[in-house]
Amino acid sequence: MRIKKHFYPFIFIVQLLTVSCTTTTRESSLKDTMDAIVSRFYKDFTKLQLDTIGNDFILQYLSDKEKNDLASKYWIFEVNVPVTVSLMRDSAQATAPFWLAKSGFERTELKVKNSLSTYEVWQKDYEAGQVALGINGFDKHRPVYFISVRPTDPRAELEISPIFPVQQHFETMEVGSFTYHDWDGLTLTDVPDELEGQVLFTTIRGRAREAHLVGAFRNTDFPSSEIPDQVLLTWSGDPKTTMDIQWRSSTSVDKGMVEYWVKGTQDTLTANGEKFLMEDRLLQNDRFAHRFIGKLSHLHPGTTYEYRINNEIEGLSSVYSFTTDPAQPVPFSFIWTGDVHNSKVWGDMMQQAYRRHSESAFYIAAGDLVNTGLHRDDWDQLMAYPGEVFANIPFMAVPGNHDNQDGLGAWMYQEMFSYPDNGPATDMAELTYSFNYQNALFLMIDATLPIEEQTEWIEKQLKSTEADWKFAVFHFPPYNSIELYQDIIDEWGPIFDRYHVDFVISGHFHYYLRTKPIKEGTVVATPADGTIYLMSVGTTGKNKDMNPAEYAAIQFGADHLYQHVEINGYSLHYTSYGLEGEVKDSLVIKK
Ligand SMILES: [Fe+2]
Repeated sequence: MRIKKHFYPFIFIVQLLTVSCTTTTRESSLKDTMDAIVSRFYKDFTKLQLDTIGNDFILQYLSDKEKNDLASKYWIFEVNVPVTVSLMRDSAQATAPFWLAKSGFERTELKVKNSLSTYEVWQKDYEAGQVALGINGFDKHRPVYFISVRPTDPRAELEISPIFPVQQHFETMEVGSFTYHDWDGLTLTDVPDELEGQVLFTTIRGRAREAHLVGAFRNTDFPSSEIPDQVLLTWSGDPKTTMDIQWRSSTSVDKGMVEYWVKGTQDTLTANGEKFLMEDRLLQNDRFAHRFIGKLSHLHPGTTYEYRINNEIEGLSSVYSFTTDPAQPVPFSFIWTGDVHNSKVWGDMMQQAYRRHSESAFYIAAGDLVNTGLHRDDWDQLMAYPGEVFANIPFMAVPGNHDNQDGLGAWMYQEMFSYPDNGPATDMAELTYSFNYQNALFLMIDATLPIEEQTEWIEKQLKSTEADWKFAVFHFPPYNSIELYQDIIDEWGPIFDRYHVDFVISGHFHYYLRTKPIKEGTVVATPADGTIYLMSVGTTGKNKDMNPAEYAAIQFGADHLYQHVEINGYSLHYTSYGLEGEVKDSLVIKK
């Protein structure tokens, strides 16, 4: 799927919003209603029942008040004049929303189409005032319904005041219009004359999850407990003097701290863990967990520290260690991987890489860390499979399209990792960021966010750095044999050229590619003249039979690779390794 142009922070719908009403009392939101229903499900039903629950059963089980909430709190707005609301429902959805016909919507003969779906058109007339619509269904049918509105009197001036979602975007109902922000390439191909020109309310496919109950419940292989686990190092500050330590416990653990000391000494310092509650409503064996972040600062550069987590209930974790970035120039190395997709083999490979290259200072992942970024059980696997590697070596990543799904944002990713808040905008904090290690600059870019809105920031970072080596890491590979990311090539390519980025590091297509050096879209003689674009894969490969493009220095299909990059002043040794430690590709650059 290509990058979204019409970014829209719909994430807030599911996460945060409650419906505000005109009186001073706070009315409950659809989310509150669903939270309470799911809580009652867990109390009343066994695991087997949860797995087999169906539509009719749910409707019998719910109270009238709950059904009323689900029929009226999904989409709310006000109109100043009488209107006709047209509701486009995918005819492939097995069960129509339970409230639709009951609330007075009538199915018409009209049809609206895009390249994937044919939508039935249902209509209802409303007086001036509030229009309140219900859920898409208890299934997770991702081509969710969307609506269009026209004034009953064509001469009337229609004004629409969104209430929920508060940030409603409008398009015009016509061929070529998009309906889903998370897939704006999917546009309408058939629009009946009668609907043409109406106000089209856009939405996101993630809304299919808001009332998901049928076949919805999941289990994690790694539920939280009182013993601190998922211990993880990242940086949100300067690698010379800071370290962020994250861990997890069950909700029965309210406190936790990091105890740390310079290796070989007795003086122990402490840093309290900032706690927050993480929820995955449909994770039946571990709905809630506490996550903690202990931020260590004022550390000495080039110093090895040992630490452990003390949560005062289950006592102490194992002792781990880390080393801060030295103040004086020293050779260093890092490891990076392409798509991970919570692969067990990747986790094993990280443990081998850690043994093989124990000197590496940090690890980088170029996105698609998990299959479904909205499922905490996937994140639990990602954290468990590498064992204790990332309790001892910082893990720095960017999100991929699987980490940021259905228009709901990479919110679970953000809860898992503490990264720098130095990106282009507050709503990109910890998603796009930069950090320096020794004489290298790392631009960690979330390419699932709008490309143009990050260009100025990228240029500013490159313009102001004194680093000898510059790396840009983002998920979508601009150059590849499947479909060029022309928007990235056009928008960022000239800046990578101007400031000479050494490597662009990506993933996404699950095969291996190292380009020849490229400048202004064409191959140039040496790495000193242009940028090398790399793509690799940490999980199982695909797209293995792609013909190499003329700009490919080397390209091959592969499963499970990792790359080791060693920098010593002005020379760089690059090696790609397979699972058994066999060398798959290598390169030396001297400046
Ligand atoms: Fe992927």
